[in-house]
Amino acid sequence: MLNIVIFGAPGSGKGTQSDKLIEHYNLFHISTGDVLRDNIRRGTELGQIAKGFIDQGQLVPDALIIDILAQVLDENKEKAQEGVIFDGFPRTIPQAEALEQLLAERGTQIDAVVGLEVPEEELIKRILLRGQMSGRADDNEETARKRLEVYHNQTSPLKAYYEEQGKYRAINGLGTIDGIFELIKETLDNN
Ligand code: AP5
Ligand code: MG
Repeated sequence: MLNIVIFGAPGSGKGTQSDKLIEHYNLFHISTGDVLRDNIRRGTELGQIAKGFIDQGQLVPDALIIDILAQVLDENKEKAQEGVIFDGFPRTIPQAEALEQLLAERGTQIDAVVGLEVPEEELIKRILLRGQMSGRADDNEETARKRLEVYHNQTSPLKAYYEEQGKYRAINGLGTIDGIFELIKETLDNN
């Protein structure tokens, strides 16, 4: 079993690299952002709550997102047999602690945290480029800058948190999609 967190700022390539990783390692992909956007599309109660936060570039409250994650894990036990790639979760220290506990209760743990490191101006460039066609409400310059600020304040401390556990693997996230994927594979295969 291989459980990975794919970590990085908005636009760093978490979703892009997850698509390649799930295929190569036969993992189950959980993107909390995708789960929330799906709820917004379906007009669920959760979606209505989440929309306000996402549109402002703010994080959805920890308690809410932790419940969702536990539910997704329990509903997909079969698909998650070979392992899970967590994309966009955890984003705060309390989320990381909750994840550790959720996995321990299920007899497993995080094996590696793959950190995609990309300079800020490149992140903005990628998000604005995608915004031209994605229709994502948070892919505009003002919200993208807010998302980056939230990342620096609330999420980036997780790098040190996982470094202390010896699990953080820094990856240069600047380059071609395939080149970055090769770096990640090399790192995971030697984990
Ligand atoms: P989420 O959906 O997780 O978005 P994000 O972290 O802001 O990141 P993105 O999905 O924008 O980027 P990515 O790193 O996946 O990059 P991608 O591969 O798409 O979260 C959205 C919101 O939901 C949050 O703001 C929050 O409100 C809420 N939320 C979600 N999870 C939460 C949680 N745990 N707690 C609380 N709130 C939560 O790539 C970006 C673009 O760049 C694409 O167009 C791609 O084609 C391109 N690209 C990728 N790689 C490269 C490359 N190597 N070179 C050039 N372009 C590239
Ligand atoms: Mg994403």
